[in-house]
Order: sequence, then C-alpha cells, then structure tokens
Amino acid sequence: MQPAVYVTTPIFYANADPHIGSTYTTVVCDAFARFHRQRGVPTFFLTGTDEHGEKIAEAAAAAGITPQAFVDQVSARFRSAWDECGIAYDGFIRTTDAHHVGFVQDVLARIHASGDIYFGEYSGLYCVGCERLYTEKELVDGRCPQHLVPPVEVSEPNYFFRMSRYQDELRRHIESNPDFIRPEGYRNEALAMLREPLGDLCISRPKTRLSWGIEIPFDRDYVTYVWFDALLNYPSGLDRAGRMELWPQTHHFIGKDILKTHAVFWPTMLLAAGLPLFRHLDVHGFWSSGGQKMSKSLGNVVQPLEMRDRYGMDTLRYFLLREMAFGQDADFTEAALVGRRNSDLANGLGNLASRTLAMSKKWFDGAVQPIDPREPVDVELERAFARARVELEEHVLGLAFHRALEALWRGLDAANKYIVETAPFTLAKDPAQRPRVGAILHNCLESLRVAAQLAAPFLPETAERLRESLGLDEATFADLDRAWGRAFPAGTATGEPVNLFPRIETDGAAKAGAPATGRPSRV
Ligand code: MSP
Repeated sequence: MQPAVYVTTPIFYANADPHIGSTYTTVVCDAFARFHRQRGVPTFFLTGTDEHGEKIAEAAAAAGITPQAFVDQVSARFRSAWDECGIAYDGFIRTTDAHHVGFVQDVLARIHASGDIYFGEYSGLYCVGCERLYTEKELVDGRCPQHLVPPVEVSEPNYFFRMSRYQDELRRHIESNPDFIRPEGYRNEALAMLREPLGDLCISRPKTRLSWGIEIPFDRDYVTYVWFDALLNYPSGLDRAGRMELWPQTHHFIGKDILKTHAVFWPTMLLAAGLPLFRHLDVHGFWSSGGQKMSKSLGNVVQPLEMRDRYGMDTLRYFLLREMAFGQDADFTEAALVGRRNSDLANGLGNLASRTLAMSKKWFDGAVQPIDPREPVDVELERAFARARVELEEHVLGLAFHRALEALWRGLDAANKYIVETAPFTLAKDPAQRPRVGAILHNCLESLRVAAQLAAPFLPETAERLRESLGLDEATFADLDRAWGRAFPAGTATGEPVNLFPRIETDGAAKAGAPATGRPSRV
C-alpha cells in the first residue's frame, strides 16, 4: 500500500453535461480513493471543470450568454451531479478560480524565465473539439479520429514551449518506470509517440482571435492555450488545499482519448516547471452505448442521473466497475445492467442479507448467538473471505476493478453455499441443534460484515445499510482487521430483514439486449 495517494479525474469540459463516460472515470476515482481512505492511507481526491478555450467560447456564444455565465451554470451542474451520485471528492477545481489563474501565470513566468518559452509562427491543422493540433499522420481520411470532422488550418504568431527539449528525458523515464503509464498498451502507445520527433508546443492564442483564457503574464495580448491551463489544475488544486506534500503520490485517471496530452505534454511541462513527475497515469477505455459510439445525434447518450433514479447509484457503480476491464472498451446497455443487478446484486448479495437477517429475527429475535462450536465448514467460510480480501486488494492496486469485485463475489458464493450445506432451516426444527443454528447464523453475519466492509469503496450506500442492519457501530465497521467472531459482542441485535436489491422484472426486450425500463418488483 502506498504511504499516501492523490487521485484525480480529468477536469470535465464545461460545455456539456455528465454522461456515462465521465461518470465512469469519476466512479473509478471515487472507489479508488475510498479504498485507500478505508485502509488509513492519507488520500486527496480532486475533480472539477475545464472552463477556458475555443470550444467553451463557441458554446457560450451559441447559448447567447457570456462565457463566465455559461461555465458557472455548467460547472454547477457537474458539481451537483457528482453530489447527487454520492461522489466523495475532497476538492472541486474550476479553471476560472482566481487561485488557479495565479498558479498558471506563475508557472508560465517561471518557464519563460528559464528560457523554455519562445515566440514564433504557429501553423497546422487544429481540431476545436480536441483543442489541439493534429499531424497529417494522426488524421483518419483527413478527419480528426475523435470528432470525425476535418481540422481547420491555422496560422498565426504565437508563443511556444520547448517541449522537444524534454523528449529524451521523458522517454527514458517511461522506459525505466513500467508503472508510469498503465495498462501496458497505453505505455507502448506513448513510447511510440516519443519515437517520432516531438516538436514544440504552441501555448498561446492571440486575444484578437480568442480572449476567453488565462492572460499570458509576459504579453497581455495573448491568453494561454487551454490544455496548458487545464493540465496545471492537478498541482494547483492540491496547492490550494494546502496538500502539496501529496504531489509525488499522484494517480491521474483518464480516458484513452486524452493520452497524448497527459503522457507527453503534461510530463514535459512538469520537467520544465521543475515539479516532480506524477506517479501513475492510469488509462481506461471507452464506453459505447448499445454497440455504437455515444452521440447526441444518435440519441444514445447515457445520463448517469437517469440511471441512478431508475436503478440506484450502487447498481450503476457496480455495473460500471464490474462490466469494464480497466483499459479496455465496454458497451453500456440497460439490459446488461439489469442482468448484473439481478444475477449478482439481488441473487448474490441481496439474497444472503435477506435470508440471514430473516433467520436471525425468526429464531433468535435478532440476538446474535455465540460462534462456538466451530466445524470445518465454518473455518472454510472464514478462509474464503480472507482470500477474497487478499485478492480484492491486489486487484484494486493493479486497477483490475472487475476482478476485485469477482473476488468478493467468490466470498459471497461461498457464504450462499455454506447456507445450503449447513441447512439451518432443517436444523432449526430440532431444539437440540439450537446452539449450532446460532453459530451458523453468526458465521453468516460475519460473512455479511466482511462482505460489506470489502464492498464499501464500491457500493457505499449498500455497505452503510448493511452496517445498520447488522447492528454494528461505525468503529467496528471501520476496522478491517477485526477477527472473525469478534465483531458482534453477545447481545448485539440485528435489524429487520432488508431487501437491498429488489429484482428488476424484465420483459422480453431486455433479455434480447434492447434497452429495458426496469421496475423493481416485490420479492
Ligand atoms: N477537459 C478535458 C480534460 C482535461 S484534463 C486536464 C476533457 N474533458 S471531457 O469532458 O471531454 O472528457 C473527460 C473524460 O471523460 C476523459 O477522460 C474522457 O476520456 C472521458 N470520456 C468521454 N467519453 C467517454 C466514453 N464514451 N467512455 C469513457 N470515457 C469517456 O477531455
């Protein structure tokens, strides 16, 4: 485990609302941050909005309001969406914040003073959607591969950052630090970019063409290029929180479309600014929707709040984290989400919770019984959860969130199997077996306790509901190392049976893979 972690999402362009792609990055960061906090690791989690540049200025003009009024609205919508989704960020940065503006200007002045910024002629093919220049080679049939539109030719005098000066140093760093960019495929992509001559980076825009940006401190006729401004949010947000000591422990989570800016522009900027390099760049794949690229025109953009309202946030979190192998692409359909909800959440976890709590209530009025005597089958159950924990932790640190959840579900399967094997329903008919039935239920409650603790970073609402139903206080629940059989003091009272994940009735369409509108059914 690292001594501390600083976790960041990309800052989201303040020209559109959150969708399932931005939600995925944010949920991954949230789970990763909660995982570390739960283990006592000092953690800071930053998210925010990217508010300058041509793209935003154009969107504001189309909306008929000033850029500032426009970004105020969109940024507030991001913030409230993450709040409504229960995202536990520690800082929310806006690139129009005065502190950030000052931070960017300081860095520009420093790099200028050290001789790494010069004035020259800028020309090339620019994609406004990506806010960057493309080389001919990067284009697909003359179009930007992300936005599928031809870039525009630009030519104007501007300031340049001597990025090329740092090319070799960066390549050596990536070569000698295999964990710097993960998973490996993206590291290889970054190394391939660094095998080509890098060139320098244009970092200004004349105000005559674009005034919506941070003014260059050494030339008032220019504003900073939006990516130069945006990337600096990572240290500036930490600086503002007074937590710069965490900087060397940085984990940047991003989607694969912004690999070049983060794997090439950003580390060279840090080298020039004399700041230590971040520790990890963790790159995930793309979500398609119903097998197609998500787009407004196709009408298949998945809205996180709509999904949350329909299925609950934990079901959405579970689906996102379980369905996508970090680094690879995945497809979003409601039918697949409903499938996971019913098979994993309702059957695996929900069923264990409702059965255990119902038995505890029915036979012991909720009073937790002593755990002895212990049978080999009980010890096996305890081991299954010990293994689940070890595997889950390894997988989270290796970014295989889907595998981490699989490992936890192997524990839950062992618990459901334990109930079948020990058959408390049958034993309970014999009064002489009462102590054994009490011990079996205690083991089931321990399974739920450990499962809830391990699930907490991924399914925080569910974990809290389980904690309450199990009658555990917060301190006991926070103690991951509490020994099996030591969490429920004699006399602990478990609550009423809960139905954590009511099954979602599916019609034929859902099973066939078409979007389904699910309604919880009574179980
Ligand atoms: N503003 C820049 C980032 C600047 S960071 C210094 C930006 N913003 S964005 O709003 O367009 O995208 C934010 C994140 O959402 C990126 O990580 C991007 O990869 C991710 N996604 C956007 N669409 C996505 C999918 N369809 N699937 C998965 N992630 C996607 O880029």
